[in-house]
Amino acid sequence: MKRETWASRSTFILAAIGSAVGLGNAWRFPGLAAKHGGGAFLLVYLIAMLAVGVPLLMLEIAVGRRIRQGTPGAMRAMNRKAEAVGWIAVSNAVIIEIYYAVVFAWVILMFVVSHKFAGLTGNSEAASKLWLGLIQTTGTTEGFGTFCWPVFGCFIVAWISAFWCIRNGAQSVGKVVKYTVSLPVICLLILAIRGFTMPAAGAGLAKLFIPDWSALSNSALWVDAIGQIFYSLSVAMAIMVAYGSFLDRKSNIAVDSLIIAFSDLAISVLAGIVMFTTMAGVGMLDSISASGISTAFIIYPQAIVNLTNVPWINAAFAYIFYFCLITLAIDSLFSIVEGASTAISDKFHLNKRRTTLSLCIISAVLGLVFCTAAGLALLDIVDNFVNSYTLLLTGVLEAIVAGWCFKTSKILDEINHNADRFRMPAWWFNISIKYVAPIALFGIFVWNIITLFAGGGIYGAADGYSLASNLICGWALMGLSLISGGIVKLIARARVNKGGYKEDLRSWDEIPETEEGELK
Ligand code: PHE
Repeated sequence: MKRETWASRSTFILAAIGSAVGLGNAWRFPGLAAKHGGGAFLLVYLIAMLAVGVPLLMLEIAVGRRIRQGTPGAMRAMNRKAEAVGWIAVSNAVIIEIYYAVVFAWVILMFVVSHKFAGLTGNSEAASKLWLGLIQTTGTTEGFGTFCWPVFGCFIVAWISAFWCIRNGAQSVGKVVKYTVSLPVICLLILAIRGFTMPAAGAGLAKLFIPDWSALSNSALWVDAIGQIFYSLSVAMAIMVAYGSFLDRKSNIAVDSLIIAFSDLAISVLAGIVMFTTMAGVGMLDSISASGISTAFIIYPQAIVNLTNVPWINAAFAYIFYFCLITLAIDSLFSIVEGASTAISDKFHLNKRRTTLSLCIISAVLGLVFCTAAGLALLDIVDNFVNSYTLLLTGVLEAIVAGWCFKTSKILDEINHNADRFRMPAWWFNISIKYVAPIALFGIFVWNIITLFAGGGIYGAADGYSLASNLICGWALMGLSLISGGIVKLIARARVNKGGYKEDLRSWDEIPETEEGELK
């Protein structure tokens, strides 16, 4: 069976950047920088990127390319018992894709109604309520009965466009990423030019870049910086292994990973510049926050209506801003579906396109709960659990499998295969994968759990939502991810017993290195 491959090196790089650069760059990064002393946060973020982010990214891409399978297969090839870790990553992907599509739908909806910003000129109060009214949320976990049709309409558009982009796997992804990566950069540049011309731009830039060194002693800064780089590079979500598995062996993982990570950083900083100059310009510098998804939908509209006194200019700005968010979000959404679909079709030897279509349909059906008036609250719970606990745990497990249950030297050989000017040094990779990444990520995991317990969250009170919804959308979903490997194993055994196919259970050394995308 011939495996699909990227059309070119740049296609792969763009696809990976497209996945990494998402809504997280646009408001989580600037929000965190605002919270943690500007330049001081940037510095720690850079350190975290080099110490944890880059090595994990290289690891995922390299095992994908070598094993030519999705995450579970790649994990199993390193250690026979590790397949379950891969399925946790796939579950993360499926859970995230279900709600990310709804966030994407909200962005589309805001884009569609951007003309309304003209009528709201100067009216911050009304602007802050625009989105809450549109999605008809109760803000609580009550309100299942109310279905929000406009959100549903955009939700369908979101899923159809995501499926369209990945209908032919790496081939069709390659065609769209040229646009989905360049367009947001162009939009951000336009917005940055506008930001620079605002009177208080200097104050905004100072807040973003001038470090407040005293913030370095705050452990929350380190926790947030490592968490953000981890989330931003799309690792532990089954994406980068799948994308790596479409690479041919001539590719240069050591350099490509650095390009991907630094581009992601550059776009985060660009988004930071836009956010800080614009917010300073409208006198809202202190309102920038990293508190969840609402920033783009509540705080930013307030800035937009105060940009100028000319209604149509504000509306035009809103169109560009939400269009930018659309282009940022779409390639993250389809990358995560592609990651899960690759893993499933590899495991069960299913037709890739049909698997992708089924996954889109199932995810869309499950995502309908988020289109109700209770959707925002439920999404908040799921998002919080996945990001604060399961993703981190997956990262820890992946690093342990690679660092302690397998030989890092073999992975390093794969990373440096074909490397020319820059080779990933062994000390860097080993220290990071064996010690820094697992310890740092586990530390943050424990920190988050302690924060949860300290806030009484075990009873469902910490986030202000009901215990039942915390149990179902949080704990139960997390439990399901953790046991997903066992469930898959049962299904696979039943299918194999039925004589459907023979599983490929070869280990790393048994899989021959092939120069092309050919599986031998
Ligand atoms: N890296 C993405 C971001 O910064 C995170 C993500 C990737 C979310 C893929 C969903 C799907 O927004």
